[in-house]
Amino acid sequence: MKVAIVMGTRPEIIKLSSIIKLLNKKNSTIIFTGQHYDFNMSMQFIKDLDIRKPDYSMKLTKLQNTTTDRATQIGEIVLNLAKIISKIEPDTVIVQGDTNTVLAAAITGIKCSVPVTHVEAGLRSNDWRMPEEHNRIAVDHISEFLFAPTEHAKKTLQGEKVHGKTYVTGNTSIDAIQQNISKAEKKANLSIEKKNDFALVTLHRGENVDNKETLSSIVQGLVQSKMDMIFPAHPRTVKQLQRFGLYKKLQESDNILIIPPVGYFDMLYLMKKSKFIISDSGGVQEEATSPSIRKKVLIVRKSTDRPEAVKTGYSELVGTCTQKIIQAIRDAQDNHKITSDANPYGNGHSAEKILSVLRKTL
Ligand code: UD1
Ligand code: UDP
Repeated sequence: MKVAIVMGTRPEIIKLSSIIKLLNKKNSTIIFTGQHYDFNMSMQFIKDLDIRKPDYSMKLTKLQNTTTDRATQIGEIVLNLAKIISKIEPDTVIVQGDTNTVLAAAITGIKCSVPVTHVEAGLRSNDWRMPEEHNRIAVDHISEFLFAPTEHAKKTLQGEKVHGKTYVTGNTSIDAIQQNISKAEKKANLSIEKKNDFALVTLHRGENVDNKETLSSIVQGLVQSKMDMIFPAHPRTVKQLQRFGLYKKLQESDNILIIPPVGYFDMLYLMKKSKFIISDSGGVQEEATSPSIRKKVLIVRKSTDRPEAVKTGYSELVGTCTQKIIQAIRDAQDNHKITSDANPYGNGHSAEKILSVLRKTL
């Protein structure tokens, strides 16, 4: 079996790391699209997670944030990737998640007659504003091998009558935590001693940060709650906070420490040390259910594609309204203990299950 692994963003590197570690240069080619290009959004994770450097790295034209440049970006990835795929002739193209890189790689795979493997298949928010929803639906229907993290995701795929074969494997985000949590405890490099009882905040979803009213409503909720918070901000979020005149409000607040994106070890450390988490991240909702983290997540979104975490009591769908955010933070300050011992996203052995299916079939 010879696989091509295509990845382009921070969460893809993290969630493909456990698969990459079970492969070698002979049976796999790693292709990095460069969708995320800053060091602290990309190579930092290759370093932290100790995976081998990509065999191919693309340099994409930087997005200017026009309405068409994301389509152009997908086209650019397809053009570059088709050349690589025709040279290396893999048995499958492996993609993870729902980013533009994932859509571009899946289109390239199927059009080059290479079966597509989709890791983390079957997630749905049923929110058509999200580019991720378009991408994952398309990719699920293109794929030959669909690795659903949960039975719920598998049912969704069956309900949509996807063409490929579906397997339930848990989520590889849990593999990455199990493999790195003890290193993170030793290697985390943040000094947060002065911060007691803080909430960890992350925000980056387009439907939140690209809309002035929504972003302002969330920021007001965070500031007015007065709770101490540490907020490693995604570059997209920083740009939009500055554009909408909200960055200063956060910087000048007494309770929020806004910092650049942190590496994987620091992130695990912050999750573990925090009282609870406020986030619109998909991966963070899963990670918080890991036996090594076990933190409540207040989801500042209108919908979630991780209903399993809500059902098992790890997370709560709060929305983006200022008053609802303030109230949820107040409630969570008194009541943030996790009582469930469910592991909705698996026990950290997803990569082995995925590769075992592929090895048997390809
Ligand atoms: C992308 C994914 C999203 C995923 C997220 C993980 C899509 C449609 N979205 O969103 O599903 O949750 O990655 O973080 O693929 N930027 C930088 N430096 C970087 C990367 C991005 O400055 O290294 C800025 C650029 O201004 C860019 C903007 O962030 O225009 C958005 O980047 P993009 O990759 O389009 O989407 P994300 O918001 O990162
Ligand atoms: N993450 C990180 N540093 C940060 C913010 C997030 O290491 O400053 C990790 C987080 O633990 C998770 C992944 O990045 O593993 C999630 O990425 P993101 O929230 O950008 O994307 P999503 O999961 O929503 O697609």
